[in-house]
Amino acid sequence: MMRRLGTIVALAAVALLAGCERYATPESLRGGGTGAPIALTSQSITLPDETVTLPASADIVTVNCTACHSPDLILAQPKLKPEQWQAEVTKMRGAYKATIDEQDDGKIVAALLALQK
Ligand code: HEC
Repeated sequence: MMRRLGTIVALAAVALLAGCERYATPESLRGGGTGAPIALTSQSITLPDETVTLPASADIVTVNCTACHSPDLILAQPKLKPEQWQAEVTKMRGAYKATIDEQDDGKIVAALLALQK
């Protein structure tokens, strides 16, 4: 999980830098024409260790959800009804572009419900 989060952070940094390259002009690099130089510094963050894993019976949740979430987030949810979990899965796909195959929705919802028992 650490490595995956690190990859996400690294990809976000690359995306940001790519954006800079596309839009930066010599003028803007000097601080929008004010003459003030921008000082870029390296930063590091320490991500928490992932200690919780989901049981093998919930592999379909691990595969479809933990690229973006820790298992804790999924386990920390209040008890939801099947249609509420379905709405979550639909939201992840729609709002956050999670690549969850619609054909797996039934199995994912069943596994999420089983995790809450
Ligand atoms: C592509 C990344 C991505 C994937 C994959 C993903 N989510 Fe999310 N999810 C998000 C984002 C972004 C949020 C909003 C920020 C937050 O609460 O972390 C979110 C929020 C949530 C929330 C908090 C309540 C809400 O609706 O905002 C729950 C519960 C959740 N996701 C469950 C799931 C489950 C279950 C799966 C797998 C079926 C899943 N997510 C897959 C990105 C994702």
